[in-house]
Amino acid sequence: MIAQLGYLAFEVSDLAAWETFATKVLGFEVARRTDETMALRMDGHAQRFFLTSGQADDLLAVGWQVDDEATLEALVAALRSAGHDVREATPDEAAARQVVRLFVARDPAGLAVELFFGPAMADAPFVSPLARSGFVADEHGLGHLVISSPDGEATGRFYQELLGFKLSDRITCTFYGHPVDITFLHTNPRHHSLAFGGPQPKRLHHFLVEVRSIDDVGAALDRAIQNGVRIAQMLGRHPNDRMVSFYAFTPSGFQFEYGCGGRLIDDEAWEPSVHDRVSEWGHHPPERYAPRRPK
Ligand SMILES: [Fe+2]
Repeated sequence: MIAQLGYLAFEVSDLAAWETFATKVLGFEVARRTDETMALRMDGHAQRFFLTSGQADDLLAVGWQVDDEATLEALVAALRSAGHDVREATPDEAAARQVVRLFVARDPAGLAVELFFGPAMADAPFVSPLARSGFVADEHGLGHLVISSPDGEATGRFYQELLGFKLSDRITCTFYGHPVDITFLHTNPRHHSLAFGGPQPKRLHHFLVEVRSIDDVGAALDRAIQNGVRIAQMLGRHPNDRMVSFYAFTPSGFQFEYGCGGRLIDDEAWEPSVHDRVSEWGHHPPERYAPRRPK
């Protein structure tokens, strides 16, 4: 029912730091900028990320794109008949997102879920000055996100039964002493557009953007280190989506994942499974690397 992850909206305490981070580390472009807001671009869509000044330093809303108005109305009707409060956005709100029509609901964790169709497209193809191979986005959505879900069962029902997401797989294990239990969902061939587990300190654990070459992942890791970005996990490969990636902290304290080589799902042949580790190799925190020269 949902075509793709359309946009992410964050409230951030340091908009200037985000501008530097987005353009110098991620390889995005500023699409619109005011004193209090900024929109970022990374593919053919005119805007993929919306940032607003504020103290939350967290995810404000997730935009899920559908193909047409009939699908949008069917989703809204399904949510309302299940007892969810869904309101149509004001024309000003839809204009700020640059979409034709927009409805807003809340998921079981209270996260704003924005359902829309008709996003504005950019006049020219996007060419990142830094990520030369380009981002895997467009019809596959901007990437994926992993959100906090204090009630995993309710979250699973909301996204699978009402919004039509399909189960990709789960990972349950411990990672450096932390229990991990994450459910991965897809809504197009991208292995997952949404994953959830929790509860976690922020609504958002991380968002992922995917480039088309391992060299662009390595170059992004270099840029992160050169720009003083704190690295959370060095390079590694996940067993489920096969992504080779690293994790680091955004200026708002939640993480981003920068990767390549994510697998695609063919629903005809896909069997959901449970993995017992987060990574096939790597993804170690940098402090786990040898801290000093051997004597
Ligand atoms: Fe991820």
